[in-house]
Amino acid sequence: MTQAPPTCPRCGSRLASAPGSPAACLRCAAQVALDQEDTNPAPPPRPPLDVASIAAAFPAYELGAELGRGATGAVFRAKHRALGREFALKIIAEDVAARPGFAERFEREARTLGGLAHPGIVAVHDAGRAGPWFFLAMELVDGVDLRQMLVAKRVAPREALAIVAQMCDALQYAHDQGVVHRDIKPENVLVDRAGRVRILDFGLARVVRESASTPNLTRSDQVMGTPLYMAPEQWRTPLEVDHRADIYSLGVVFYELLTGELPVGRFPPPSHRVELDVRLDEVVFKTLEREPERRYQHISELKTDLGTATRSAPAIAPPPLPANGAAPTAPAPRAATRTPRQAGSNRILVLAVGLVIALNILLLVLYFLWTRGLPF
Ligand SMILES: Nc1ncnc2c1ncn2[C@@H]1O[C@H](COP(=O)(O)OP(=O)(O)OP(=O)(O)O)[C@@H](O)[C@H]1O
Ligand SMILES: [Mg+2]
Repeated sequence: MTQAPPTCPRCGSRLASAPGSPAACLRCAAQVALDQEDTNPAPPPRPPLDVASIAAAFPAYELGAELGRGATGAVFRAKHRALGREFALKIIAEDVAARPGFAERFEREARTLGGLAHPGIVAVHDAGRAGPWFFLAMELVDGVDLRQMLVAKRVAPREALAIVAQMCDALQYAHDQGVVHRDIKPENVLVDRAGRVRILDFGLARVVRESASTPNLTRSDQVMGTPLYMAPEQWRTPLEVDHRADIYSLGVVFYELLTGELPVGRFPPPSHRVELDVRLDEVVFKTLEREPERRYQHISELKTDLGTATRSAPAIAPPPLPANGAAPTAPAPRAATRTPRQAGSNRILVLAVGLVIALNILLLVLYFLWTRGLPF
């Protein structure tokens, strides 16, 4: 039975069926990215929030520096005065909180988030509303997010593997609890000074972007994810995706960590862009299958294949953070892996040298026989 050629989930135009071909046609990928400027990997255009108003609404905290700003709001360092402990206070922007049904969804998802307890998931200690501000008080992670890491340096393959392996454990745990992240992207993954990975914002994409009306891809607030990291089915039916959408997004992050590029257009296998065991190409491509049925069905299967494709257990080097906590700048050493192509050319060189030596020996023997007049 021949399979129908894959089509762009947005405009229906025909796509190439080879592995490594894009999940949507380039025009639509670009259009959605433009429609959703606020969820692009580029620095978000959102203006700063009203810090004085936030400080007044949270008298229990001493508000510190802004840690980052995204599509939904901003995250601040905040010291709890009574506990003397620092937290990361995520404040949802007022226009996002004003979307229909936001308060109910926030309450519902906060309960789910509060129930997640895993070393690879940032713990949420408090959530609710203070004055006009919806907030999440989270464990403060002393480290960098993967976007900062990617901007600062080339991530070595062994580091990428270690990061993805840890992300697998955290995601498998969440999926076992029935929780789908829906917005896996470099900005939502932190690596602390000890090299431990923590995933942020579980389920938050659903809280901030789900609208009460019928899903419609032209409405950017209903596309629950970040376009370049989203699974094709997330474009088609954003309200109905399952845990396999996270597996696709993890594949995009994996590809980007390995190669420094996003898997858009007709992208080559990672081993064509970086020195890497070619078995990992298969693993990456299986996470990036357009149809969820052809993808890994569970994160644990991906983790098993990762282990099989890498002979020794990967070790992650903690990001070299300067004392002020800014993003690291020193490039990491590349992993000393050999591609099959390199191994092949080495074999040819050895054969050629061997042939030259054999020819020289033969000539010497012939000369020796000739000088003694034997046998010709
Ligand atoms: N718990 C935390 N500890 C330390 N830094 C954090 C924490 N939470 C967030 N950050 C920092 O703040 C940045 C901004 O986070 P935020 O979630 O607001 O933005 P985003 O993920 O880019 O967009 P979105 O609004 O879609 O979530 C993160 O990328 C990270 O660097
Ligand atoms: Mg985030």
